[in-house]
Amino acid sequence: MREKRMESLLEYIEKSREEAERVGSSVKDFRVFDFSFIPDKPLVRPETKRIIDCLVRYQQSGIPRHLVIVGPRGCGKTLTFRYLAKALKEKLGLPFHGVNCRVHNTSFKVLANILKMHPRGYAYSELCERFEQTIPGPAVIVLDESDMLCEKDVRKDVLYFLSRSKRQYSVVLLSNNPRYLRSLDESTRSSLQPEYIHFDSYSAQEILDILKDRAETGLKTVDEAMLGEIAAMTAKNIGGDARVGIKSLLYCATKEAESVQVCFNKAREDVIADVLSNTNEKSLLILKAALLEPTRLVKAVYQQYVALCRQYREEPYGYTQYYAAIGFMASLGILVLVSAKVDRTFSNRIELLVTADQIDAAIAKRFH
Ligand SMILES: Nc1ncnc2c1ncn2[C@@H]1O[C@H](COP(=O)(O)OP(=O)(O)OP(=O)(O)O)[C@@H](O)[C@H]1O
Ligand SMILES: [Mg+2]
Repeated sequence: MREKRMESLLEYIEKSREEAERVGSSVKDFRVFDFSFIPDKPLVRPETKRIIDCLVRYQQSGIPRHLVIVGPRGCGKTLTFRYLAKALKEKLGLPFHGVNCRVHNTSFKVLANILKMHPRGYAYSELCERFEQTIPGPAVIVLDESDMLCEKDVRKDVLYFLSRSKRQYSVVLLSNNPRYLRSLDESTRSSLQPEYIHFDSYSAQEILDILKDRAETGLKTVDEAMLGEIAAMTAKNIGGDARVGIKSLLYCATKEAESVQVCFNKAREDVIADVLSNTNEKSLLILKAALLEPTRLVKAVYQQYVALCRQYREEPYGYTQYYAAIGFMASLGILVLVSAKVDRTFSNRIELLVTADQIDAAIAKRFH
């Protein structure tokens, strides 16, 4: 009996391999579809030249130029800086050091990660000292997803240290939170005095250019009509998040589903599930409250939210922070705010772009 089962499993493995080979045969290079892949010639964002001007001047004068770059998800912030780091190191010898604050979310961990040291066993001041010894400057320090620095790290010590250091580092902060700059405290802002650059979301044409390049390097045949369809949906339905476009392209090429629309929906769901898994507990409870509140009106959802927080023993946001969190989630493509007429006045209603199952799954993972 057991042998039979074994045999059928072996048969299944063989079948599965054949199937994977069949669908994979249209792909020349799977690496091209990895989100961390750096294309040889990325689409150049119009803002890139301003960034280059800033950094060239910094290298020439040694006078720090700090930058805050804000733009929606998947608009090329990380890619632009990974590309520039390589290009400016080669062309000007300007060193770049980058760290992702979602993964390394305290001042301490940020410095330790750049120094490739284990964060335990050192005092913060020791790390700062070591940092200045190891990285003499000029150097560009890029803090990616910098709004993910722990909320408890209120003064954002690392920003204070980097911007005041005698080593004259240039600090670049990347974020997809439109309120990021305002969220920094006064003294941090005044010691940074950053130049603010906004990345707009990609248009359908820009997404099309990005997808064409991926298709040409990664696939055996290029279907222009399909690329156009994916690009249009990506720009219209998910705020131009290039990740969804790239993933849809892979799904279409490997025949994950028959129609382009279904492949797109699947890619969009995958990317949103990833966003939810990185959303903080308070925001997840706001989404849950929106599910529970039949009117979905912002004020009524807040009441539900406060009640839910009690249930989950979570300190609720005040109303202003709650509203900011909603705006932030809208920028991530998790929800949209629509104006609704209620009793002759207008109120905002929350329309969720994620399913109840996705929200419940994210909550179950976070609260045990
Ligand atoms: N200009 C571009 N040319 C080629 N590929 C791009 C371009 N912009 C973005 N991409 C691709 O789209 C995906 C998302 O880009 P990226 O990671 O840079 O977005 P982001 O703005 O950092 O998003 P987030 O706010 O979520 O961190 C990546 O796979 C990246 O390679
Ligand atoms: Mg990024």
